[in-house]
Amino acid sequence: MIIGIDIGGSGIKGAPVDVSTGTLSAERYRVETPSPANVTNITTAVRQVVERFGATDRVGVTFPGVVVGGVAKTAANVDISWLEAPVAKLLSAAVDRPATVLNDADAAGIAEITFGAGKGKSGVVVLLTFGTGIGSAVFLDGRLLPNTELGHLEIRGKDAEERASDRIRETKELDWSQWALRLEEYLRHVERLIQPDLIVIGGGVSKKRDKYLHLIDVRTPVVTASLQNNAGIIGAAIAAAG
Ligand code: BGC
Repeated sequence: MIIGIDIGGSGIKGAPVDVSTGTLSAERYRVETPSPANVTNITTAVRQVVERFGATDRVGVTFPGVVVGGVAKTAANVDISWLEAPVAKLLSAAVDRPATVLNDADAAGIAEITFGAGKGKSGVVVLLTFGTGIGSAVFLDGRLLPNTELGHLEIRGKDAEERASDRIRETKELDWSQWALRLEEYLRHVERLIQPDLIVIGGGVSKKRDKYLHLIDVRTPVVTASLQNNAGIIGAAIAAAG
């Protein structure tokens, strides 16, 4: 059995995953993201989630930043103590079994391309997650190009996630049509740079498609993610299964 864990800004969620079907084999368990969300506190919280499910072979864990060879290389929206932390090693030790760690958007993308909105799609598929930040996962014929970080493209002199993330929609109290304009501007920017064949919108806004999707006019077909909240958990487990 493989447990997938999704480390997010407000909650740390996990569940055992059947990686042959992309479904959770038990109800997911969530703990609040500790504050400060530093290495020690998060590691403890991840252990708590894993312990809930008993015996497992491996765990897969998402991280909201760049992860290269199990080491965190950026900490844009997380506590600075994560920078250069050997996340995979630390979590493996904490949960006493091998842990695979990967970028959160990459994990969500792996789940969507394997079992969700991107299933069976060839060519260039881009999954973009809109939450606290903007995460990205880029695939060519189903193969991931990891750690793409398209949320940090610059739009009119500002980080894209400071213009078009769901956090900005909330803090600036934008209505859906105002946010849709920002989303459209961002998607056009992405289109100009990498010419996708399909764009998949993920994160919390994926279940609110009726509020904005019809307002978006871009060249590329745009769909919303179908695994929604569980994409990170499922993708992390698939990654851990190798
Ligand atoms: C980070 C990405 C992450 C995204 C979503 C961005 O700020 O740089 O690595 O995927 O937020 O959490």
